[in-house]
Amino acid sequence: MSTQDAMSWLEKNETGSIDRLMEWLAIPSVGTDPAHDGDTAKAGQWAADHLQASGFDVEMCETGTADSPGHPIVMASCAGSDDYTGPHILFYGHYDVQPADPIELWESDPFVPILKPAEGEIGERIVARGACDDKGQVMMFLEAMRAWYETSGAAGGGVKFTVMLEGEEESGSVNLERFVEDNADRLGKTDVCLISDTGMLGRGKPAITYGVRGLAYTEITLTGPDQDLHSGLWGGKVPNPINELVKVLEELWDDDRCVTIPGFYDGVRELTDGEREAWRGLGVDEVAALKGIGLRPEASVGEKGFSFIEREWARPTADINGIIGGYTGPGAKTVIPSKASAKVSFRLVDDQDSATITKAFFAWLEERTPAGCSWSFEDHGGGAPATCATESAPLRAAAKAIEQACGQQAAMIKSGGSIPVAGLLKDSLGLETIFMGFGLEDDRVHSPNEKFELDCFRMGARSHVALIEQLKLLG
Ligand code: BES
Ligand code: MN
Ligand code: MN
Repeated sequence: MSTQDAMSWLEKNETGSIDRLMEWLAIPSVGTDPAHDGDTAKAGQWAADHLQASGFDVEMCETGTADSPGHPIVMASCAGSDDYTGPHILFYGHYDVQPADPIELWESDPFVPILKPAEGEIGERIVARGACDDKGQVMMFLEAMRAWYETSGAAGGGVKFTVMLEGEEESGSVNLERFVEDNADRLGKTDVCLISDTGMLGRGKPAITYGVRGLAYTEITLTGPDQDLHSGLWGGKVPNPINELVKVLEELWDDDRCVTIPGFYDGVRELTDGEREAWRGLGVDEVAALKGIGLRPEASVGEKGFSFIEREWARPTADINGIIGGYTGPGAKTVIPSKASAKVSFRLVDDQDSATITKAFFAWLEERTPAGCSWSFEDHGGGAPATCATESAPLRAAAKAIEQACGQQAAMIKSGGSIPVAGLLKDSLGLETIFMGFGLEDDRVHSPNEKFELDCFRMGARSHVALIEQLKLLG
């Protein structure tokens, strides 16, 4: 009953592990789509069964209200061995996935997972929606748990765990805040949160992420005339809501690409020289990153005074995610539309607050209401940013586990993405999070042909196996 036994188990049973992951991926748990509610529940149950088979006590917790039920949260736990004195770990992951569309851009069915053979620099990989985000990454943890249980007979390998798997991460974790409040006693007994839902520094370069950005997501609609109009008869005489909307939105950024909403930067933590220096030392290849998405070096644009990586990891941004309005069918149609909408979101950093930013944005729009038009606003929620400790006993254990499992030191990085639970746990329970993720920049998360490489899966599963040993040594 040793780390070596569990590592050998992983190696010998890899085909089984991959098969199990493919079975899970075949359940189309598109959490945002009511047509997939049954599948989403099924994917949660699948994970619950897996944990139970590895000796965990498992519970499916309903969320939401009778009128508007949410997806269940899988809660599982194991007590740890009698002599375990290390930290109580809260493992969080999500079993919901993004919608597959645009479906026509997939080279294979998003919910018929396939194993693609190695080509060039890329080894074998699993292609399916959720392969990396987040089923493939949660599976590294699940199989590490299985490996320890099968080889030692102890659930969690003797470490004390609480596991919380959510089915609404991709739709903004709307029922999670309430759940965390209601379960504050239970969750508050854990010492640190562990999440595998982020990326590495690069191929073969494992990393620990110590911060994610927050998010505020809105939808705004500008209405002008109460009907669509002939643009020849009315154009130039009355407001065209699309023209007016884009004129207002253009004012969101100044010439330095700073966001112009008053108070937007209030509370934003300034980068320290030490952090800037450390990030420069990571050797992020900006030109290669741009090339990977079909861009030339001059395409590195963003807030003045900050580097490529600083703009992702340390600075807030505003983005128009979609503009809806007018005629978009084939051919020409001369029309002044009655209304126009936009989906506008903000990525936030500590210590900005999602609700405050949304309120400030709506007030900013009100002040710029085009003559003859009116606004309506919708708040699609968001999540808090989280910058976590870069030094703690469990974090050192995670770093050692990665080194032991991958033969490489973990880089300390941040990410521009958002994982709402981390900010929530920090604000409501004071819990720190360690993000130990194994994704790659080209995994196409949220896009067609999402993939997860077996090399990454292996590194992740092995790191979680090694983490058990390192946590026990902390005691
Ligand atoms: N796992 C991602 C976030 C992520 C990806 C973090 C890569 C770091 C590296 C997560 O599932 C996600 O997509 N989050 C959403 C949050 C939202 C729906 C509230 C996001 O970032 O847009
Ligand atoms: Mn995710
Ligand atoms: Mn995601």
